[in-house]
Amino acid sequence: MADHTTTPGPRLLAGHSVHPLGLGCMGMSEFYGPSDDAESLTTLNAACDLGVQHFDSADTYGFGHNEELLGRFLRSLAPSQRDTLVVATKFGIVRQRGQYQRRIDNSPAYIRQACEASLRRLGVERIGLYYCHRRDAQVPLAEMVGALADLVREGKIAAIGLSEVSADSLRAAHAVHPIAAVQSEYSLWERGAEAEVLPAALSLGVAFVAYSPLGRSFLTDQPPAAQDLAADDFRRALPRLQGDAGAANQRLQQSVAAIAGRLDQPTAAVALAWLLQRQPHVLPIPGTRRAGHLRQNLAACHLVLPDAVLAELDHVFRAGQVAGARYPDAGWAGVETR
Ligand SMILES: NC(=O)c1ccc[n+]([C@@H]2O[C@H](COP(=O)([O-])OP(=O)(O)OC[C@H]3O[C@@H](n4cnc5c(N)ncnc54)[C@H](OP(=O)(O)O)[C@@H]3O)[C@@H](O)[C@H]2O)c1
Repeated sequence: MADHTTTPGPRLLAGHSVHPLGLGCMGMSEFYGPSDDAESLTTLNAACDLGVQHFDSADTYGFGHNEELLGRFLRSLAPSQRDTLVVATKFGIVRQRGQYQRRIDNSPAYIRQACEASLRRLGVERIGLYYCHRRDAQVPLAEMVGALADLVREGKIAAIGLSEVSADSLRAAHAVHPIAAVQSEYSLWERGAEAEVLPAALSLGVAFVAYSPLGRSFLTDQPPAAQDLAADDFRRALPRLQGDAGAANQRLQQSVAAIAGRLDQPTAAVALAWLLQRQPHVLPIPGTRRAGHLRQNLAACHLVLPDAVLAELDHVFRAGQVAGARYPDAGWAGVETR
């Protein structure tokens, strides 16, 4: 049972004890409308100054742009500071520039080539945490994990992660080589991981990294309205924002915003505080391009929600309340957890 009277301490990730909140960097390159590199670099530096140590990227975010941006940020730091960070990136999603449709590649030759390219873009000798972004069913799991284990032995990656895998795959992979982290979507409005993946990670001692912990901005004071989003914003196609589902979900957003209003807190901070308190072993990686939003999100670490508020949030988002799928059709490629 979590102790709800204290704020969350550091959490373990890939051999490091890190600040409980990481920073998701995806929106700095793609998917959530326009971004500005100068603003993103300011946000990355602010995160570092405020104690954030875990930065999450992927080769597919902006087709390498996100890793290059992180590379610029890392080069600006003193080596002693850089060594305290866990920079995570991912391979496996292959897209044509400008397209959301993807194919998945987990072949050993592809993994090696992708790793070399990520090392180059990040400007590091070793990747702190290297995830298989999506599973390619054509390649046996042991072969894929074996290829990653070779990269560990060669010193090119420090630790292995898996994203959106089933509990069975996580257990099978962990038997081939220790898996440092599993990354899945997890938030007030996406609770699928609670059934199997989260308990499996806990029992194996594998870190659970929660992506999209703000429901892709749904759980904030600026929830997305599909019709108002930029033409290339991926959320325009999100089933949870469309038609009747969108209208039904809007009422949930209003409920959580009302709870946050009563507490005189930003909605994002309340959503993250719920996650940190309910799941003492989980590492959320809220994404933001903006230092102001970053500060609001980090405020979650100093917010102790009373049990009655936690229960109220659980009730608002009880099973069956959220309408619509969490991905459009093309987004399910390689996702083992529907
Ligand atoms: N493994 C995977 O398959 C996978 C999939 C998706 C994401 N991820 C990772 O997880 C990270 C986080 O997920 P996410 O970025 O998809 O979603 P998220 O963290 O749930 O939400 C990010 C969105 O919320 C907005 N936001 C953040 N803080 C806010 C605040 N305080 N007030 C108002 N709006 C706020 C951001 O806009 P602003 O930029 O304007 O703040 C952005 O639009 C990503 O960056 C990525 O690294 C991994």
